[in-house]
Amino acid sequence: SFWKQIPKGLKRLPGPRGYPLIGNVLELRSNPHLTLTQMSQTYGDVMQIQIGTRPVLVLSGLDTIKQALVKQGEDFMGRPDLYSFHHIGDGQSLTFSTDSGEVWRARRKLAQNALKTFSVSPSPNSSSTCLLEEHVSKEADYLVMKFLQLMEEEKRFDPYRYMVVSVANVICAMCFGKHYDHDDQELLSIVNLNNEFGEVAASGNPADFIPVLQYLPNRTMKIFKDLNKRFVSFLQKIVKEHSCSFDKDNIRDITDSLIRHCQEKKVDESANIQLSDQKIVNIVNDLFGAGFDTVTTALSWSLMYLVTYPEIQKKIQKELDQMIGRERKPRLSDRLMLPYTEAFILEMFRHSSFLPFTIPHCTTKDTVLNGYFIPKDLCVFINQWQVNHNEKLWKDPSTFNPERFLKAEGTEVNRAESEKVMTFGLGKRKCLGESIGRWEVFLFLTILLQQLEFSVCDGEKVDITPHYGLTMKHKRCEYFQIKQRFEVKKSE
Ligand code: HEM
Repeated sequence: SFWKQIPKGLKRLPGPRGYPLIGNVLELRSNPHLTLTQMSQTYGDVMQIQIGTRPVLVLSGLDTIKQALVKQGEDFMGRPDLYSFHHIGDGQSLTFSTDSGEVWRARRKLAQNALKTFSVSPSPNSSSTCLLEEHVSKEADYLVMKFLQLMEEEKRFDPYRYMVVSVANVICAMCFGKHYDHDDQELLSIVNLNNEFGEVAASGNPADFIPVLQYLPNRTMKIFKDLNKRFVSFLQKIVKEHSCSFDKDNIRDITDSLIRHCQEKKVDESANIQLSDQKIVNIVNDLFGAGFDTVTTALSWSLMYLVTYPEIQKKIQKELDQMIGRERKPRLSDRLMLPYTEAFILEMFRHSSFLPFTIPHCTTKDTVLNGYFIPKDLCVFINQWQVNHNEKLWKDPSTFNPERFLKAEGTEVNRAESEKVMTFGLGKRKCLGESIGRWEVFLFLTILLQQLEFSVCDGEKVDITPHYGLTMKHKRCEYFQIKQRFEVKKSE
């Protein structure tokens, strides 16, 4: 606990004084990433705050974070036992549960392998590079068609509502081999949410730290619990259907490959650890959950920046015209040829920092960081926003400027710069869908921008103020408009 004896030669964690019982909760209220960034200027990269009566370690600074999550990865790889996390994925989530030992490791490996087979591995029977490219390409074409149709009929529209279904369809195709209609009410009720999930699962939600709040009526928390229940039963139904039609000689998707693993495990007596069937199969919950909200949010921020900075949009389109032309569609393999587009995506990740903190971590043992003593089981927030807006790392961090990522000639992305952006976490708990996430954003954007020019209705202002959460969203914008850049030849 807080009063634990500090071993000789080590420093006690610095940090602001908190009020009795509530700690620093009032200071954190609406924009914890900003408040904690400011506090880090006073107390440094390693500081301790208090939420309710519970101490929390807050890490800032790229070097300090790398030291903790990479060099001392084992010490900082845990997840804290938080009230809201109990409600996610039946409390068995790979991502949010407190598992961080052998069970977590085995599940993470399973998830990675299954994901790889059904996304980036070469596609057996099509002209696409891989299944991911095939799925995204198809969904992006649909979006182009849908946006044109909406423009014709309504003259303006909210793209989020449609992108979220398309992005969900990509992960659904990989996880379940399933495709949903854009009007499917069941899917919409699960994916087209206001940010209730993100608000509750965010770092610093008071209900996670002040137990009495769990007993008070709380509308957002109720929506969060209902949502998680619906989510689990939606997925359970799909898994049941898969079990019924399962054929070990025809593994159709990630769910099938997990079911197969349950069966093989029973044969393989020598396995080091035995995972329960439930812990194997509900890995799809994590993949599906992590796979649609993040990518949709990234695309949505991208469109907001594109209409805010039309000259940047023009530059991307000029690059697309020069490097790809109009005769064929962009592909994943075009990425290296499109440095400005790549720089735009990096700047979108940096400037929005829409995942301001990683998912909270927790120490797995007593440890030391930068000379400070850090006890076991301490909840840890990693401030990605601070890294992405640090004046020591970035010139004019509040300016949106893709060029900061280009080498002087403008023909190549500067890798040293791009690696300073923190969006996917680092170390053992690093996002396991990082490449898939980056590729999806790239391919959706390039296919949309090759064909469409985005703007907002005359006189309407775009509001890019982020709303705090696990993923930060902007206000929905109903005033998007598009123009078709040219008639597309039907090539296929
Ligand atoms: C974890 C970001 C897309 C699967 C995370 C974390 C971040 C993140 C910040 C937490 C890291 C930590 O706690 O230190 C993103 C972003 C994405 C994206 C920005 C898209 C732009 C995806 C996709 C998938 C995915 C497409 C899967 C298909 C996961 C999983 C975890 C995770 C399973 C939990 C890992 C663990 O706890 O061991 N992601 N992610 N993510 N992500 Fe992603």
